[in-house]
Amino acid sequence: MQILRNLAAAAALFCLTASACAQAAPPKAGEVANGLAMTPPMGWNSWNKFACNIDEATVKRIADTMASNGVRDAGYQYVVIDDCWHGPRDENGFITADPAKFPSGIKALSDYVHSKGLKFGIYSDAGRLTCGGRPGSQGHEFQDALTYARWGVDYLKYDWCSTGTRNAEEAYKLMADALRATGRPIVLSICEWGTSKPWLWAEKVGNLWRTTGDITDKWEGKFDYSWGVVSIADMNEPLWPHAGPGHWNDPDMLEIGNGGLSDAEYRSHFSLWAMMAAPLMAGNDIANMTPATRDILLNKEVIAVDQDRLGRQGRRVWKDGDREVWARPLADGYPAGLKAGVRDLWLHKDVGRVAGRYSATVEPHGVVMLRIGG
Ligand code: GLA
Repeated sequence: MQILRNLAAAAALFCLTASACAQAAPPKAGEVANGLAMTPPMGWNSWNKFACNIDEATVKRIADTMASNGVRDAGYQYVVIDDCWHGPRDENGFITADPAKFPSGIKALSDYVHSKGLKFGIYSDAGRLTCGGRPGSQGHEFQDALTYARWGVDYLKYDWCSTGTRNAEEAYKLMADALRATGRPIVLSICEWGTSKPWLWAEKVGNLWRTTGDITDKWEGKFDYSWGVVSIADMNEPLWPHAGPGHWNDPDMLEIGNGGLSDAEYRSHFSLWAMMAAPLMAGNDIANMTPATRDILLNKEVIAVDQDRLGRQGRRVWKDGDREVWARPLADGYPAGLKAGVRDLWLHKDVGRVAGRYSATVEPHGVVMLRIGG
């Protein structure tokens, strides 16, 4: 895959084999945390679009749409409510939902989401308070895990605000143990922004770990506590040896459709995430998206790259100024040196059988993504 980061169009060369391009070491062997997420999790998360303005009507509307407009059937299965769903703890310390925003309660909402053939996820924090100032799980880990299991939760995003001097590895292991003790399969999404290098210790703890601070709907650069799309990709890319089935680097949720970037830039965003075997958590208002946004999020050929069962994260294999080539070995890879079919995954077209080289023009901030083989 070639990406062009600056505003001048250019022709590009492509390596044609995994061995020529990637020279990737095999992924580390090892047990997985819980047997879940053997391909990167896909779904929707409320935060990027709705932040704290989230309620049960919105979540239902999103779930309805996902089930009826092809999003669910393209593989997006988790519906995750991020921060700010919480009410107070009750007199026994059990967490409750905000009664104004979730009047029917979380169990009813989870049942609703399940009735649409989707899975249900929720958010908490390893500290005293969440990043949005709601009650965190510190000191309530087993109680909260039990509550989530009773509610039918399938996915927990576990954040890192208000944690003081807590040790991240211990804190996440504690929640992993608590989730395991419920007997319910629950994906654990570690969200400590890469602070304690979770790629070095979390392979058997969680299923995905954030590698960076928060994404923002911009192309490049750092903005207070968040980063643009290609800056996030730069930080996540070198971590490619640590990803594999059941344990993924997480460069944060998608901004596609939130309005800050052009469609060409969003195609690059989606392509980079697929090359990096990233979790694909849509972060837009799925119930109100343009046809162009839908075409990006539902590009099944790009999704298939993300979800490739080999689970090897792709990487940058060539860079010349703002021009870059990325490559990712896939399960159906083929021997080097043979003539191979080339398919353009955004044109949805076979573009020839070639050996050694392929060239194409890449639009500004754009991408050409090719599947090579066969
Ligand atoms: C942190 C996380 C975000 C989001 C917010 C919620 O910033 O990194 O993804 O969950 O908290 O407050």
